[in-house]
Amino acid sequence: MSRINIKNLLPRSLFGRAALIYFVPVLTILGVVSVVFIQRLYEDVTRQMTMSAMDEVELILSEIKSAPNKSAAIERSRQLAGPLAIEVSFSDVRVDTRRSSFDLSGSRIFSTVFERRSDVLGIDLVARDGWVRLKFASIYGDLTFDMPRTRFNARNPHQFLVLMGFTAIVMTLIALLYLRGQVRPIRRLAAAASAFGKGHVLPYRPSGAREVREAGSAFIQMRDRIERQIEQRTMMLSGVSHDLKTPLTRMRLALGLMDDDETTRSLNSDVDEMDRMLNAFLEFARAGKLDDPVEHSLVETVQHSVVKAQRAGWNVSLGRTDEIANMVVRPLALSRALDNLIGNACRYANCAIVELLDRDNVAVIRVSDDGPGIPVEERATALKAFSRFDVARNQNAGSGVGLGLAIANEIARQHGGQLKLGRCEDLGGLRAEILIPR
Ligand SMILES: Nc1ncnc2c1ncn2[C@@H]1O[C@H](COP(=O)(O)OP(=O)(O)O)[C@@H](O)[C@H]1O
Ligand SMILES: [Mg+2]
Repeated sequence: MSRINIKNLLPRSLFGRAALIYFVPVLTILGVVSVVFIQRLYEDVTRQMTMSAMDEVELILSEIKSAPNKSAAIERSRQLAGPLAIEVSFSDVRVDTRRSSFDLSGSRIFSTVFERRSDVLGIDLVARDGWVRLKFASIYGDLTFDMPRTRFNARNPHQFLVLMGFTAIVMTLIALLYLRGQVRPIRRLAAAASAFGKGHVLPYRPSGAREVREAGSAFIQMRDRIERQIEQRTMMLSGVSHDLKTPLTRMRLALGLMDDDETTRSLNSDVDEMDRMLNAFLEFARAGKLDDPVEHSLVETVQHSVVKAQRAGWNVSLGRTDEIANMVVRPLALSRALDNLIGNACRYANCAIVELLDRDNVAVIRVSDDGPGIPVEERATALKAFSRFDVARNQNAGSGVGLGLAIANEIARQHGGQLKLGRCEDLGGLRAEILIPR
């Protein structure tokens, strides 16, 4: 429980964590040093200095005590006090014990003086700025001592703290700048990798610390290799399909010139099927590369595909359609994916409903039908290229090539999402969803 709490408190980003690693020790050291320093300076040093100032006061007091009369006392005290920079006078001026409230060392001076001479009549740190006024009784009347404050405690002790704080702030700013420079290459690598996952190739050059650069170079190598493989696959598929189309066209022409009998009709339908397959191959090879990403309305895409299917005479209806703000998508590719799903629903079921749902962070295009559906254990296979299932199971089925779902899945991935197959509770058939994260 407590472990989870601590984890939640920690910053999520690398920058935040690195900053924490920097700040915690630095702030701790600063804190400890400040506390120890303040303690020493305000307490110990002030006490020592006050003690030695009081030595001088006591010296003068004892001289006065041993003087034969008041004028001798005044004379002796003046002689002593002059070189010590103390102003002594016999006067009845009231001396209160007071200090300003933020005068921290003041209270230490009080306690030390009281400890040393409990007969002190007053200690005033406010009356004269930069001076300490003390009052004592003597046999010749009340005595007032004015001594420079610098004799009691170190001057401007807060300057040290200010300097330390200021240096800490400047160094922290420099450290944060440097830290940001270290984190930026990692962020760029993450951005390039996540974009590539969605099918975009961002310009990327490895930079930063050695390890980050190594990871960056490895990423580029991997990306190049994957791109090369995709390109080769695409080239092969489209090359083969394309090249086969020419002899196929020649065969069709030749068949057109032959007599219309059972054999030519069956040959013709074979040629048609081969043509359909080749078209599917070509389409698969091009999947997701149909168009470039633009800002587009998903509502429009969905409505368009449904209308198209209805015009073709299919029993498709538009269900719930959430208002979703325009998203950056490949509209042509996306409607191709949706067309494939609607096509499947119409081929393997009687009626289909298309919906557009707005879930947190994900737009969902859902096609549900009342057909036999795909059993759980076959769903993963169904997404793979060239996978077809038992045709007998399917009602209106003319056999396909087994690429429809694979293409739709590929297109969903190009958008950073996926194609999810499930069972539609209401209609009892397949529920295919294209999830597109926003
Ligand atoms: N709506 C559906 N209802 C039932 N089975 C389906 C549905 N959609 C696809 N399938 C099954 O998944 C297989 C693969 O579909 P797909 O990739 O579109 O290939 P094709 O439609 O070319 O056969 C189909 O052969 C079919 O058996
Ligand atoms: Mg299909």
